[in-house]
Amino acid sequence: MKIIMVDAVSLNGKITDSNGQTHTWTSAEDWDEFLRLRDASDVIVMGAATYEAVRPKPDASIRRVVLTHHPEKYQAAAVPEQLEFVTETAQTLVKRLQKAGCKRVMVAGGTEVNSDFLSAGLADELYLTFEPVLLGSGTPLLAERSLQVGLRLQSVRQLNAQGTLLAHYIIDR
Ligand SMILES: NC(=O)c1ccc[n+]([C@@H]2O[C@H](COP(=O)([O-])OP(=O)(O)OC[C@H]3O[C@@H](n4cnc5c(N)ncnc54)[C@H](OP(=O)(O)O)[C@@H]3O)[C@@H](O)[C@H]2O)c1
Repeated sequence: MKIIMVDAVSLNGKITDSNGQTHTWTSAEDWDEFLRLRDASDVIVMGAATYEAVRPKPDASIRRVVLTHHPEKYQAAAVPEQLEFVTETAQTLVKRLQKAGCKRVMVAGGTEVNSDFLSAGLADELYLTFEPVLLGSGTPLLAERSLQVGLRLQSVRQLNAQGTLLAHYIIDR
């Protein structure tokens, strides 16, 4: 099973602006790339706050797993195999998905989820879109904890005239 991590960041590493927004400063081209990567995955994993920000509808073509300590809060929205709300560590979740035959998992943030997968050495590839913007405050890509992860650049593409860059890395494990 391959696990990819996908995020759009400001040049100083924020995934939201100071109002908790992402789509106000990310580009249409980044969104197209996100959809391309999402459609090539069979599972998307996200934290509860990311789910709340987007509230995607259940969809038979992709399984979404939302990490939360309060799955009971989301009982009405849950649809088995489409939209699940679970309390699991990254390791337990990955083992379960592997057992279920999943081939490609997309980790779609936010901060704690990204950090948990990287700390556990579970992510294989990272797609980072660098938007040409600086954000003074906002949600960081990674939690403030001790972590060092080596990356090997596979490709970098300019997505638009403004200078949005999509970098694809293999994560050292
Ligand atoms: N720019 C980007 O590419 C990008 C990517 C992703 C998200 N975002 C944005 O970032 C914001 C959200 O990010 P965030 O870092 O604040 O939050 P988040 O990671 O999406 O959600 C945090 C919540 O997830 C739950 N959680 C995380 N790990 C868990 C675990 N192992 N077990 C159980 N529950 C777990 C907890 O929810 P409970 O409180 O329910 O327990 C925690 O409060 C949103 O505005 C979103 O739009 C941007």
